[in-house]
Amino acid sequence: MSKFDALFEPVTINKMVVPNRLVFEPMGNYYAELDGKASQRDCDFYAARGAGGCGLVITEICSVNRKHGRGDARNLLLDNDEAIPSFAEMAKAVQATGAKFAVEIYHPGCQGVPDLNEDGMTVSPSGQQTKLTMAPSRALGHDEVLGIIDDFVQAGIRVYKSGADAVELHCAHGYLLCQFLSPYTNHRDDEFGGSLEARAEIVRRIIEGIRQGTSPDFPILVRLTADEYLRMLGVDDGITLDMAVEFSKLFEQWGADAIDVSAGNYETMNWAWEPVGFDEGWKSENGKTIAAAVNIPVIACSVVRHPETALDLIEGGVAMVGSARQFFADPDWGNKVKAGYADQIRPCISCMRCIESLMAAHEDPFTPMVCSVNPEAGRECDLAPLEKDGVGRTLAIVGSGPAGLEAARVGSLRGFDVVVFERADEIGGQLVFAAKPPKKWRLRWLIEYYRTILTQAEGAGFGRVEFRCGTEATLEALRELNPAAVIWTAGSEPIKPASIPGLDLPCVLTPPEAIMADPALDGEQVVVVGSGMTGIEVAEMLSAKQGCHVELYEMLDQIGPGVFFQNMIDIMGRLGATDTGLHPGHKLLRVEEGKAFFEHEGAELEVPFDHLVLSLGMRPTGAPAWADELGVPVVAAGDSCGIGRIQEAVTGGYDAVRSVK
Ligand SMILES: Cc1cc2nc3c(=O)[nH]c(=O)nc-3n(C[C@H](O)[C@H](O)[C@H](O)COP(=O)(O)O)c2cc1C
Repeated sequence: MSKFDALFEPVTINKMVVPNRLVFEPMGNYYAELDGKASQRDCDFYAARGAGGCGLVITEICSVNRKHGRGDARNLLLDNDEAIPSFAEMAKAVQATGAKFAVEIYHPGCQGVPDLNEDGMTVSPSGQQTKLTMAPSRALGHDEVLGIIDDFVQAGIRVYKSGADAVELHCAHGYLLCQFLSPYTNHRDDEFGGSLEARAEIVRRIIEGIRQGTSPDFPILVRLTADEYLRMLGVDDGITLDMAVEFSKLFEQWGADAIDVSAGNYETMNWAWEPVGFDEGWKSENGKTIAAAVNIPVIACSVVRHPETALDLIEGGVAMVGSARQFFADPDWGNKVKAGYADQIRPCISCMRCIESLMAAHEDPFTPMVCSVNPEAGRECDLAPLEKDGVGRTLAIVGSGPAGLEAARVGSLRGFDVVVFERADEIGGQLVFAAKPPKKWRLRWLIEYYRTILTQAEGAGFGRVEFRCGTEATLEALRELNPAAVIWTAGSEPIKPASIPGLDLPCVLTPPEAIMADPALDGEQVVVVGSGMTGIEVAEMLSAKQGCHVELYEMLDQIGPGVFFQNMIDIMGRLGATDTGLHPGHKLLRVEEGKAFFEHEGAELEVPFDHLVLSLGMRPTGAPAWADELGVPVVAAGDSCGIGRIQEAVTGGYDAVRSVK
């Protein structure tokens, strides 16, 4: 008996018996072939989530119409029978794990990509553009709506023919069916617009068409936006929870077998796939409210990361708990919780790297979707299982940031005795500082995850991991270990351009020094120079201190250059509530005691401060020249060989250890 047993009870949707309550929610990955067929990468990706303990695995968005329904060059496509065999392969791969498999069918409507569409336009109920992309859009004619209903029905029938266990209609996230449901985007005056029921008419016809073309037993799931949260942008005619309850009742009446509750649309994307500003479980009430209103199973996601949050949803009447990102980060989440190892879950840190990399695929369809904390995500089909060929050998790792910790994990899995040298008194490297700003505490989860699995590794039958904190990795110390290889992950150092005089003054701090400043910078005037994510986070953190006033300066014309827009919206929402001054277009010329001089629009400007935080990025330190004298391979990874974010560090550490012969 475990307190999480309720997560592992079977549940029935129509006649489909799902072995447990965990759903891998749809997650656009764009691993499909260019012709829209499912790839081997898809098969292995989804099968890994089934094998890891998700009872139900749902595919990414799968388009029903290539002429005006493309969201990306590498979407799954089910607008033709030729795609069916590849979907059958996906279904078989997932079902072989014991999980059930559903396909999510969709049309993006005005959230599509016009360049991929036949006439360079997107289509929508009333010609409205999404404010996120402002892609040109035209209103669908009445017959075209009938055609789209048929597209969905035929795609649903193809899902059935492929042997998948269920189909999910995507009526959420501001895509075409959601555009019909929402009074914000549907201003039609035919039978597909007007009252709440009329706006849902398109969904009724699709559900009934799929039902007629398949079987009474074939589960039809509907993914629904419970709330578009448009009121957060001052728009008052979006879908609200009250409306979603009414839609759910109608869908049930019309033959839907389950409701999969989500939120948001492209204009309110931060409420759909949330950055760090949103707490775990924040939207659980949406799922619980809909579950109380219908008699069919309800699936709900709510930034679920820990089993306690999942259990709260189940105890609140929700039948199944969904996550995309947590099961992307750790496909074995279910197995770990079931076996009592919830403390070994690799946590999703809501860093948004997955969605950022997915969006980069719009520029280059071969950009893989990646995960910051799981270097195997999406590479399941490329990576052979790790061999335990390190037994009896030692692996030395220098530095215990994310690259070093991941290297230690893989080294231990390979059976090496791992020794980690860490100059500081605790493990984590840059993560220790990065976890300090408000809302960034999830990074502590990552440190604790590594600490837990690495300290328990030997007991679990893997190689022993020894941390030598407060210890410099010298040539002698490394020689003494006689390691098979050294993984050099000693990190980076802050950039201090020699061309700017005064940067070595004591009043100039690096971001870690400012974050850890003792005594704190309470009551001070602080100037932060550089508005990348680190600079903005330091500004946010310091502005929360007692009486500390922050002015943020940026050389470029825009604050937050290179910061992913969802993270930018999130953090600027919080920073905007403080009195922090924002100064783009200011080039730092020199620093004197208590004064910074900037060039702005051709003039020189003097700014007084108590402390100045220089956040101009980092530079790799690289392995020292003496490392060659060791006579063993020295493999650099993480920031020590190329500055990146957590994803590059973790994947670099992983790949470095895999490369050791
Ligand atoms: C990279 C990414 C891709 C997504 N793709 C889809 C999708 O194809 N279809 C869909 O219904 N939801 C999609 N979602 C939304 C997720 O299914 C889920 O609702 C959302 O991520 C919030 O839950 P989570 O924090 O547990 O992942 C996507 C989310 C992300 C981050």
